[in-house]
This record gives sequence, structure tokens and C-alpha cells, in this order.
Amino acid sequence: MGSAANESLSRLLGSEEAVLALLAWQQRAGRKLPWRETQDPYRIWVAETILQQTRIEQATPYLERFFGRFPTLEALATSSLDAVLAVWQGLGYYRRAHHLHQTARLLVERGGWEAYLAGQDPVARLETLPGIGPYTARAIVVFSGRGAYLPVDGNVTRVLSRLVGMTVPASERKKYQALADELPESWRSREVAFALMDLANQACFPRKPRCVACPLQRFCTAYQQAQPEAYPPKKPRRPRPVRAFRFLLYATPQAVWLEKRPEEGLWSGLWCLPMEELPTLRSTPPDFVHELTHFRLAGYIERLPSPPPQATPILWDRLAACGLPAPLQRLLTHEAKGHRSPFLG
Ligand code: ADE
Ligand code: SF4
Repeated sequence: MGSAANESLSRLLGSEEAVLALLAWQQRAGRKLPWRETQDPYRIWVAETILQQTRIEQATPYLERFFGRFPTLEALATSSLDAVLAVWQGLGYYRRAHHLHQTARLLVERGGWEAYLAGQDPVARLETLPGIGPYTARAIVVFSGRGAYLPVDGNVTRVLSRLVGMTVPASERKKYQALADELPESWRSREVAFALMDLANQACFPRKPRCVACPLQRFCTAYQQAQPEAYPPKKPRRPRPVRAFRFLLYATPQAVWLEKRPEEGLWSGLWCLPMEELPTLRSTPPDFVHELTHFRLAGYIERLPSPPPQATPILWDRLAACGLPAPLQRLLTHEAKGHRSPFLG
């Protein structure tokens, strides 16, 4: 952080005025979101895990289904991984589902939430659990009323960067969280966290922020410099590599032949067409392209005249109950329509 940032930080934090303006704005213009109503660490943990990589509109029905199916930590811990993956289907980033399941079991084995929340430094202890990072650990603690934190996600990173003129790329989230951990206690509350998330969503957009509607305009360094979009600074990015895979498709009017992915690696534990990586892209266009965290997957479908060895027939009607990667889910839904005889309805 440069000295300009330090200076504006103390101006911002020196008075309670900014917090009061922010909270008054939130009361008036903020969002009412169902998962904010709870102080139950289980619900907070699941909601934050899903919301971290999924937009609210997409996440909401999943959250309802998830809590309908697994209403408590114990219900999740005693379910099979397959049951969790089936509910997760279509959400992507399946490691989150594996981690939720694994961590639910660990928590129950070790005496539940209280074993983590009641003692010294609950954040540090929660961070030792699979899938619980700096953000989620702080969110669980502050949203359940167990401590004062400002959990920093991508949106809060952007707002903080602009407010204090911090010239650190957003990818260096740890530095923003460290800044937030040093804020006075009035900034480290669930209400401030919700307000900053809402501000990011309703005014402090990544592009063309609506500073005219922002309660923190007077305190904002980026605004004073008349260049909000310069924060946080961009880090030059390497293009994602492309990897080619072939997928073997054998289907009848009744069933499609699938294989379960190994427990490690891409789409672990999901049902999938038998697949194999190719050394290079083909000269013909791929049948689908799917963005993954570390690469772009180009998929080629090969129709077979007979069932592939090692694959299992899955009835079309049962497909919805299996966890499938999103692109294959789309592809096979389309395929199913082609097979369904008009007499079957
Ligand atoms: N409120 C609580 N957690 C949230 C999140 N992750 N995104 C948006 N609003 C929230
Ligand atoms: Fe974001 Fe503009 Fe508000 Fe600054 S004044 S926090 S850039 S919306």
C-alpha cells in the first residue's frame, strides 16, 4: 500500500461517518437475501461455499434444494457423496461438493461447530478444514455472531481497493484480507460486510461504477482521482491452454452408456461418457467447448456402433438422478430428446 493509500485509509476510518453513511444506505437500498437471516453456522457455511463461485440467481434454487435434502450438518455427514453430487449437478466446481461432504464428516466426528467456534481463534481452526479458506472461515464466525471480521471476497476487494486507492491486483486477495483484519471494529461486522457486497452489486461495478449513487463517494480515493476503473489494477494474464478430449457415445432409445470418473482429477466422482485426452486439437471443430479453472476443454463426440467396454447403461429416465458434468448434462439432454419415441411421451 502506498502512502496515499495510508492517508486516505486513515481519513476513511478516522471517523464513524463513513460507516454510518454506508449502513444508512444499506437500510434503504440494500438487498434482503434469505441466507442472511440465519446465524446457524451450518447454513452460513453451505451458502457461502455455493455463493463463492456461483451467481445469486443461479445459486438460490440450489440452496433451497440443498437445505431441503440436507437440513442439518448431521444429515449432510451421514449422506453418501453421490447424493450430494446429485444435488450439486450443474453447479460446477465439484470440489466444493466433495469438500462440503468431507468437512461435514470431520466436524461431526470432532464434536460439531462448538468444538471450533467456542475456543481460541476460531478462524484459524476453521481454516484447517477442507474447502474452508480465509473468506469462508471469517464469514462463518462474523455472520454467526462469534467475532468481529470483514470477510473479503472478490467484490469487497474491488470496493476496498477503490476506497483506499490500493494498487495491489485483486488476485492478491490475502493483502486485502490483511487490510480488512486491521480495520477498526466498527468496520468488522456482518452489516458492513453485507453493505459492501450490496454496494459492489448496486453501484461499485467492475466497469462504469455509479459513483453518483454511492454513500462513500466523499471518502473514496479512486473517485477523488476520477478514475475508479483503475482499481484494482489489472494483472497481465496468460491465455488458458486448450486441451482436447474425445467422448465415446453409445445410446439406445432406452439408455446411454456412462462411466464413473475416478475419485481424483477432472470431474471426480461424476458420471460421464467414457473419455480420453487427445494429443492435439483436431482439424474439425469440437462438438463443445467448456471453460475450466485451469484450461479450456474442447470435446469431440464419437458415436460407437456397440457399447464401450467398462461403461454401464443408464436409463434415460435415471439420468437426472446422476451427477453429471454440466456440458455433458446439456449434451445428453439434447440426445435424449432424439431417442424418445413419440409413443413414449
Ligand atoms: N450475503 C451474505 N453472503 C453473501 C454473498 N456471498 N454474496 C452476496 N451476498 C451475501
Ligand atoms: Fe466505488 Fe465510486 Fe463508491 Fe468509490 S465512489 S466506492 S469507486 S462507487
